[in-house]
Amino acid sequence: MTMQATALKEDLFQYLVDNFSSDDEFLKQLLIDAQLHNIPQISISPEQARFIQFILKSINAKYVLEIGTLAGYSAIAMARALPDDGNLITVELEQKHYEFAKLKIEEAGLSNKIEIIHHKALDFLKDFQPDHNFDFIFLDADKSNYHKYVNLIDKYVRSGGIISADNAFAFGFVTQSAPERNPNDIKSIKSFNDFMRQKYFSTIAPVGDGLLLSLKY
Ligand SMILES: C[S@@+](CC[C@H](N)C(=O)[O-])C[C@H]1O[C@@H](n2cnc3c(N)ncnc32)[C@H](O)[C@@H]1O
Repeated sequence: MTMQATALKEDLFQYLVDNFSSDDEFLKQLLIDAQLHNIPQISISPEQARFIQFILKSINAKYVLEIGTLAGYSAIAMARALPDDGNLITVELEQKHYEFAKLKIEEAGLSNKIEIIHHKALDFLKDFQPDHNFDFIFLDADKSNYHKYVNLIDKYVRSGGIISADNAFAFGFVTQSAPERNPNDIKSIKSFNDFMRQKYFSTIAPVGDGLLLSLKY
């Protein structure tokens, strides 16, 4: 017999968002301002951010690396779950996103905790030599390069640290063999899920569009 998971119907989803969200007035306003600046509305969701905050606190994370800043929503949410002497590096390619996020990080009073890098992630990581290991890596950018990011950063993830990636359900298309939307991205995500499952102890948490979590021993 198959055990069926409880389907996340609208009322249950709303219950989750209403009660277990990372949002406050500042983050809500950030999303409104980002929209006014024509920044795409593709930040992680509030309940997903709370889930990541929970993981960060559970593993006593101090050092986080994020690829893909956008408006700074996830970076700010994650930084808030770090201790006072914690540090988060976030890498963003687009000038407009970088400038917007930098301002928001300052407004949030987190410039001492968050370092935002304006760079193409692959070029940045090729030369990156951090003076500490990372507890948590969050990949949320160009899907086709995730394998390369992991290969470059793996040696800087501490034992017991976690590598995570958003959109593990590929916008809902992960099970489809001929998806009509973003077929290349979906192919990349599927292949990345397989790669991570084989390389690390991994799972997908069904929050947002699926959050891949891989544990480094
Ligand atoms: C899904 S959004 C990130 C959302 C953000 N993590 C959040 O939840 O608030 C993806 C971001 O990655 C950036 N990006 C795409 N390719 C990149 C690359 N090669 N290097 C760095 N950033 C990149 C995009 O410009 C965009 O801002």
